[in-house]
Parts: sequence; C-alpha cells; structure tokens
Amino acid sequence: MLEELVTRSIALPSGGLRLLQPQESAELPDAGAVEWAPIAPYWSVLWRSGVALARELDGSELGGLRVVELGCGLAVPSIAASRAGAAVLATDSCADALALVRRNACLNEVQIETATVDWAQPDALVGRAPFDLVLAADVLYERASVRPLLSLLPRLAEEAWLADPGRPAAGAFLERAGRGWSVETRVGDYVCLHRLRLRGAGSGEAEQSGEHEHVVELGEEPSPAD
Ligand SMILES: C[S@@+](CC[C@H](N)C(=O)[O-])C[C@H]1O[C@@H](n2cnc3c(N)ncnc32)[C@H](O)[C@@H]1O
Repeated sequence: MLEELVTRSIALPSGGLRLLQPQESAELPDAGAVEWAPIAPYWSVLWRSGVALARELDGSELGGLRVVELGCGLAVPSIAASRAGAAVLATDSCADALALVRRNACLNEVQIETATVDWAQPDALVGRAPFDLVLAADVLYERASVRPLLSLLPRLAEEAWLADPGRPAAGAFLERAGRGWSVETRVGDYVCLHRLRLRGAGSGEAEQSGEHEHVVELGEEPSPAD
C-alpha cells in the first residue's frame, strides 16, 4: 500500500502541513455528518478529528513538554505538537502507520519518535511515563476501547486532549472518565474537543468527587479536505 501515495495539504493557522497518504484512503468520502471508512485501514484515513486536534495544538506553546499521541494514524496532531515545540512520541498498534508517520515528519521538517503500542499491552509505554500531555483523535469508535483507555490515560499523564466526532463509545468513555478527571468540552460542527485534567493534578488538592463538565462552543470545523 505504501507505494501508492498522494500528497495532501492541510491548512493550519501557522502554516500548512504536507502529508503523504495512501491513495485509496485519500479518495474516501468524508464530507458527511458521520465519517466512515468501509475498506481502507483506519490509520490511513485523514479523519476530521485529527485535523481538528492539530488546529487546536497549532500556535500553542508546547516548548519543553513531553507529549504522547495514542492511535495516531497519520499523526497530524503529533506533527502540529512537534512544530509547537513539544518532544513527541507518536504511537499506534499498526507498524505501517508509523512508517508513514516517520516519512511525514521528515516531509514537514519535524522530529517525531514513534513506537508500536497497543492499548491492551501498554507496559513499555507506561514505563516511559510521565508525559505532560496525551493526545488522541477519533480513537473511541469501539466499546472495547473504553476500558483499556480509561485504565491507560492516568498512567501516562495528568492531562489529555481528545478529539471525537460524537461516537457512542466516546460518550461512554467520557461518562466514566468524569469520575476521575475534570472534563472541558468544546463543541464544533463535526468534532468535539475534550480536555481532561486529572482531579487534583498540580494543585495538590483533590477535588470533590462528582462529575465536572464544562461545554463551550467551538468555531466552525473545516473538513480534512479543506
Ligand atoms: C479512526 S483512526 C484515527 C487515526 C488518527 N488518530 C486520526 O484522527 O486521523 C483510529 C486509530 O487507532 C488505532 N488503534 C485502534 N485500536 C488500537 C489499539 N488497541 N491500540 C493502539 N492503536 C489502536 C488505529 O490503528 C488507528 O490508527
């Protein structure tokens, strides 16, 4: 698959990214309310959540921070985070994805470390914690992912930014995550950005239990094809 690549352009406020993508995945329709990818491997699709998360990271001051992305796929957020100054580890269970991430890092003149990580077997990754920030875009599309990610996140960092297009499994995840994390949600046209912060992190004072969720409106989210 990796021989047949096309170059995509992604507009970010601080300047565009160029991204090599398998041609068959670049041709998938993704303009509707619910994204879908019937044939191509999920890692190879340019999901709107990844682009939205990259736009959120673009222009952030991440200098000196250690950032890990889970289920990175094409790793657009990792590229944006690296451009913003972070030391980034991009991870996915699929080695083919990571081979292309390394090429795309070179193409965009950023340094990104990669590691093959399955959320069900994360010990090697946990051994590298703590990180300052976890990134994840559109990783909660299956109920089976809720439990391993709930377990993994607090072992990696006290803060996580999740982008999601409203998939039911993400709702189940957030409902349960709200018991241990404060959650701030920004709602876009297609993608919600959830910022999770472990209760009591940094302050030394654990917050009262009970769910804390704040919702604000995001600006319009362009699709990845824009
Ligand atoms: C819908 S894609 C999203 C890709 C990318 N984050 C984006 O937004 O474009 C889901 C990604 O999660 C990865 N993934 C799925 N299950 C996984 C698991 N158990 N451990 C690690 N990665 C996983 C897939 O390989 C794929 O790259």
